[in-house]
Amino acid sequence: MFRPAITGTGVFTPPNVITNAELVTAFNAYADRMNAENAPAIAAGEMEPMQHSSEEFIVKASGIENRYVMDKTGVLDPAVMHPLLRQRDDDEPGIMTEMAVDAAKKALAQAGKTAADVDAVICAASNLERAYPAVAIEIQQALGIEGFAFDMNVACSSATFGIQAAADMIRSGSIRSALVVNPEICSAHLEWRDRDCHFIFGDVATATLIERIEDAKGPHFEILSTRCATQFSNNIRNNNGFLRRSRPDGMKDRRDMQFMQNGRKVFKEVLPMVSQHIADHMAAEGVANTDLKRLWLHQANKTMNDFIGKKVLGREPEPGEQPNILQDYANTSSAGSIIAFSQNSDDLTEGDLGLICSFGAGYSVGSVIVRRHMS
Ligand code: COA
Repeated sequence: MFRPAITGTGVFTPPNVITNAELVTAFNAYADRMNAENAPAIAAGEMEPMQHSSEEFIVKASGIENRYVMDKTGVLDPAVMHPLLRQRDDDEPGIMTEMAVDAAKKALAQAGKTAADVDAVICAASNLERAYPAVAIEIQQALGIEGFAFDMNVACSSATFGIQAAADMIRSGSIRSALVVNPEICSAHLEWRDRDCHFIFGDVATATLIERIEDAKGPHFEILSTRCATQFSNNIRNNNGFLRRSRPDGMKDRRDMQFMQNGRKVFKEVLPMVSQHIADHMAAEGVANTDLKRLWLHQANKTMNDFIGKKVLGREPEPGEQPNILQDYANTSSAGSIIAFSQNSDDLTEGDLGLICSFGAGYSVGSVIVRRHMS
């Protein structure tokens, strides 16, 4: 058996920021417009008027202040309310490939490696821009990597499930190294017209290079153990898919073709599931909460992370011990815990232990226990 290690990470951050103030202005203009259009039905009591959103609510309920997106013009146009992306020719790189390649190059540079050092690419994301060919294979070709590539989707937990798949292949010896990439264009499946969730998501891409530990050229994180779990739930759901046109009303502008969630239930059901999962994983590996130097959690909601951090550590986390990036990026689905890891791990020193955990739709939860080595 070989020992796997994370030797490099990279983050692609889209060029456009949407602040809560911009978002709320656009949403409220859309609500006013809808209320004006439907004034007779509202006056007749046949329809409820749309209510305004508020910056105060968004920050208080989620901790989110900004989000990055691939396009902001469509999202902020009350007559559009979704991103507007350029139609690409089949012979040019897809948008997910472009985002993932940028993040992958940063991960390779950090590890001091090139495409020739990589044996496999796993594109693990909550949405894939087409059914086939696999986006991962396009990324593999764009980077000039030999070997093989495949796509996988476990929604917000895709990154940790991808890391487990890569780490297991490295352990068994079928590959020496893999790039796990997470291009997330959440803006395209978010329902920007729904006040309950319009603030939740942003876009980003992350990449993690995993190699045999003896191939690491610089400081790295040994993957000591991974653990994944799933339990079916309809509380986070998106019904869009290839059967759409075959069903009555399938092509209509239906609410369930975008992200839907029962936020309160998610909150109540996922918190105990994740806290127990982490506690069991640590106990199985003989890791006490006093041994953990850092927790890089899925970035969906600040209150959720505060709760999990306190439960796992058995006390209030110290500043920086459980870093949040969601104030800047919002929820970026599978990429969130990897952004937190990438931007908040350089200061750890030899022997320090940390835990990456992502969780979300499915339900699903994945955790990775890592140990820092300086060389
Ligand atoms: N602006 C102002 N008020 C709003 C609002 C907005 N944008 N959205 C909702 N409200 C109102 C609601 O109508 C409700 O009003 P009421 O009390 O009069 O009924 C009130 O604010 C509270 O709404 P609620 O939905 O209960 O808020 P919440 O505190 O549960 O926060 C979430 C909502 C979505 C942030 C929270 O439930 C959450 O984070 N859940 C888990 C999310 C998650 O992890 N999802 C995973 C996705 S991968």
